[in-house]
This record gives sequence, C-alpha cells and structure tokens, in this order.
Amino acid sequence: MKFTLAAATAILATVASAKNCKNVTIPITASARNGVFNATIPTTEIEITDLILNLAQQGANYSAATLTGYETVTGNFDIAATYCEPDAGQSSALQILTHGIGFDRSYWDLPFNNYNYSYVNEAVDQYGFSTFSYDRLGIGQSSHGNPLTQIQAYLEVNALYQLTKKLEAGSIPGIPGGFEVVSHAGHSFGSQHTYLLTAMYPNISKCISLTGFSQNGSFVADFEFAANLVQANTVSALSSYPDGYFANANMQSVQYDFFSPGDFDPNILTYAYMNGQPVTIGELLTIGGEIAVPNTFPGAVHIVTGGRDVPYCGGNCLAAPTGYPNIPSTSKKYFTDASVFNVTIIPGAGHGLNLEYDHPTTYASVLNFLLQNGCGPSGSTTNSTSTGSYGGSGSTSTGSSWPSSK
Ligand SMILES: *[C@@H]1O[C@H](CO)[C@@H](O)[C@H](O)[C@H]1NC(C)=O
Ligand SMILES: *[C@@H]1O[C@H](CO)[C@@H](O)[C@H](O)[C@H]1NC(C)=O
Ligand SMILES: *[C@@H]1O[C@H](CO)[C@@H](O)[C@H](O)[C@H]1NC(C)=O
Ligand SMILES: *[C@@H]1O[C@H](CO)[C@@H](O)[C@H](O)[C@H]1NC(C)=O
Ligand SMILES: *[C@@H]1O[C@H](CO)[C@@H](O)[C@H](O)[C@H]1NC(C)=O
Ligand SMILES: *[C@@H]1O[C@H](CO)[C@@H](O)[C@H](O)[C@H]1NC(C)=O
Ligand SMILES: *[C@@H]1O[C@H](CO)[C@@H](O)[C@H](O)[C@H]1NC(C)=O
Ligand SMILES: *[C@@H]1O[C@H](CO)[C@@H](O)[C@H](O)[C@H]1NC(C)=O
Repeated sequence: MKFTLAAATAILATVASAKNCKNVTIPITASARNGVFNATIPTTEIEITDLILNLAQQGANYSAATLTGYETVTGNFDIAATYCEPDAGQSSALQILTHGIGFDRSYWDLPFNNYNYSYVNEAVDQYGFSTFSYDRLGIGQSSHGNPLTQIQAYLEVNALYQLTKKLEAGSIPGIPGGFEVVSHAGHSFGSQHTYLLTAMYPNISKCISLTGFSQNGSFVADFEFAANLVQANTVSALSSYPDGYFANANMQSVQYDFFSPGDFDPNILTYAYMNGQPVTIGELLTIGGEIAVPNTFPGAVHIVTGGRDVPYCGGNCLAAPTGYPNIPSTSKKYFTDASVFNVTIIPGAGHGLNLEYDHPTTYASVLNFLLQNGCGPSGSTTNSTSTGSYGGSGSTSTGSSWPSSK
C-alpha cells in the first residue's frame, strides 16, 4: 500500500504542476510612427561606446538632438510566442506578458533550477490563469528587423497591440479565444510598452502589472554605462543578429544591471549572461520618450519594483522626491484615471526580479493584486497563504507601498 500511496502522490504532484504550453509563430503587420534619427549604426566597439557616451550625457538629450522627424514604418514580421493554460483547460483570465531588455520570453518561465523560478508555473498552476508570453519584436525567435529604423519602442508597442487584438478575437491558430478578462504584465522595457499600450488604448486591458518600473528617467544612464555593450554578433549565442543589436560584454555587466547584493544564486547570474538577449540602437534612442506621455487607463495599476533597482531608482527606490514614499509612486501623477493605484517595493531585490531569491514575494504580490482587483480567473479568491508579504522579505516597511483608490 505504501507503494500505491507513493505512486499516487507522485502522479498528483506531476499533474498538479503540469501546465500545458504551446509554442506558436504569429505573422503580424505592424505599423507605427517611428522616429527618424540622424545617426548611423555603429560598426566598431568604439562607435558603440561613443553612442552610449552621447545617450548617457547628463543635461543633454541625444534622442532629441538627433531626431530629424517621424515616418510611418510598416512591416510584416513573425512573433514567436508561448501560450500556457492550466491542466484543467483554458482559464477565463488571460495575462499577456512582455519581457524587458536583456531577456526573451523565457524571463517569465525560466528553465533554470527545474523551473523553480517560473512566474508562469505560479500563475497557471497555483492561480489558474492562462498566459501568453512572446519574444518582443526584434528579439529572440521573433523577426530581427532593422535595429535603427524599425526596432523602436512605438513599433514594438504596435506589435503588442496587434497581438492583444488577435488574442481577444481568438484568431491565433492554436490559442483559444473568449477570455473574460485580459490583463497585461511587463518587466522593465516590457512595462514601458505596457504603459504606452494603455496610454494609447486605455480600454485594451483591465489590470496592468508594471514590474521593474518607474517613470523617473534620471537613472537610465547608470544602466547604459553598466551594461558595457558590445556588438551582439560578437557573442557566440547571438551571432545571427546584424550590427546595431548590442549585448552585455560580460557577466559583471549583467550583475550591475539586474542583480542586487545577496539576493541571487551565482549560477543564475551565469545563466542570465549565457542566455542574454540584445538591445537595439533604435530602442536606446526611444526608451525615454514612451513613458513621458499621460495615461488615462481606467483600470487597476500595480507597480512592483525592487528596492535596489538601478535603471529606475538608481539603486534606492526609497530615496524619493519630497511628498512621495518611493520613486515609482511618482507615477501616480501620470495615471489620472486609474481605479486603483498600488506600488509595492520588494526591499532587497534588484531590477531582475524574476531571477532573484525574492521572486516568490514578487509573484505573490503581482498575482494577488490581480485577484483582488477582478482580474483573476472566475471564482478565484486571494491566496492568503501564499509566500511573501507585500512589504517584501521580512519587512512591511512603512512607506514601501503606497495604495490609493479613487
Ligand atoms: C517553446 O520554445 C522554447 C524555445 O525554443 C523551448 O525552450 C520550449 O521547450 C518550447 N516549448 C514547447 C511547449 O514546445
Ligand atoms: C547629422 O549629423 C551630422 C554629424 O553629426 C551633422 O554634420 C549634420 O548636419 C546632421 N544632419 C542633420 C540633417 O541634422
Ligand atoms: C475601446 O476604445 C476604442 C477606441 O480607442 C473604441 O473603438 C472601442 O469601441 C472601445 N471598446 C470598448 C469595449 O469600449
Ligand atoms: C528626449 O527627447 C525625446 C524626443 O524629443 C523625448 O521624447 C524625451 O522625452 C526626451 N527625454 C527626456 C528625458 O527629456
Ligand atoms: C528621480 O528621483 C530622484 C531621487 O528622488 C530625484 O532627485 C529626481 O529629480 C527624479 N528625476 C525625475 C526626472 O523625476
Ligand atoms: C526554489 O527557490 C526558492 C527561493 O529561491 C528556494 O527557497 C527553494 O528552496 C527552491 N526550491 C527548489 C526545489 O529548488
Ligand atoms: C497592494 O496590493 C496588494 C495586492 O492586492 C494588497 O494586498 C496590498 O494591501 C496593497 N498594498 C497596500 C499597502 O495596501
Ligand atoms: C497558495 O499559495 C501556496 C504557496 O505558494 C500554494 O502552495 C498553494 O497551492 C496556493 N493555493 C492557491 C489556491 O492558489
């Protein structure tokens, strides 16, 4: 009988954690008003460093200085995506997940350590969501367009818009339609895209989770310098990218940008470097513009940022401007119409939230917020026993969260 019990337990454990996933390639026609910059694609490492010295110069705006106008850019592209749903079948609630710079869609479902860090496992298996993650236009297995004229923020956001519309319409072969609730989550540049998407189309989503995010542009230079960028095609795993796609030169540059002291397994740093993805010159030129726009999104907004985030907080989110408990909470002034606005700071974490030891706290915070604000699967309730508290590891520090509803 012992054998039977053990076998049954093993089967149960297997079944309980067996999300069903499917990879799909989605052809889209994306179109956007992109910037025209008086810049050329760097061909040497010296030119790449010169570009960063220009972009990161304090008191200057190289994007504005080189912007000569705008043009409507249209193209046909393939987007590589993964759809996952619970064992029991399609969920009523879909999350659309957009990764940030340095990663591809596997950011949300990291194979590292037997998927122990997977956000998708938690969302699908524990909370009952369906998820859709995709490689951003230009990145990973999606089409690698022209890194200067095409792969810019606005065209990528149009791709996200096209994907969302197709998911709503149920028109992607292999992915069911008819979801009752659609929400969007992003990380970093992917949060910026989610921000711009809802600024342009306020009714396209019901809840948004902006992780690794703020609208304070003062610290982008830290990220750019630390990144120590080189031509991506000089890194063996990225040899298929044309010039104008840049990648971290070494592991230390990945550590500076994404990891905080004491909050990570050294092996996952190696993993992040070995599986790193590039950033384009067009993205670097348009990264500031997309979050400087107002946003009348009427749904629930949740910002979740590591307290030691470098690109969005200069390594200290609690060193905030007067009148605000933390730097990300200054976004409140942009979200004029949000039904709920909640900022959660994960004190010990850096920018690469899903790769750090604190990831269970991050996931519980994101997922419970969705449930509490009507963006969970039908019939779901908050998982009060879930790992982590909203203040983050061992702390509920006053001022680390800033709830507000209207
Ligand atoms: C989807 O593609 C990724 C990247 O190639 C691969 O690692 C993963 O195993 C694939 N998943 C499925 C369910 O086929
Ligand atoms: C483009 O930049 C070059 C060198 O930086 C400058 O000489 C030229 O005048 C610029 N052209 C325009 C149209 O701004
Ligand atoms: C959402 O907004 C668009 C315009 O941006 C409008 O055409 C559409 O009817 C709206 N949909 C709903 C469900 O309100
Ligand atoms: C720099 O200029 C661009 C283009 O005009 C603009 O979109 C962006 O908001 C500016 N960035 C800052 C930090 O002022
Ligand atoms: C960003 O935050 C810092 C620290 O609180 C503040 O001094 C700075 O003015 C902020 N910058 C912007 C652009 O909001
Ligand atoms: C998964 O990760 C958590 C947090 O890093 C750690 O506490 C736990 O031991 C890990 N579990 C496994 C099975 O590796
Ligand atoms: C922010 O949202 C979380 C998840 O819904 C909620 O439990 C928490 O109470 C909110 N933060 C604060 C400080 O109220
Ligand atoms: C609640 O969270 C715990 C810990 O993460 C998990 O083991 C459990 O399955 C979750 N239950 C539900 C209903 O989500």
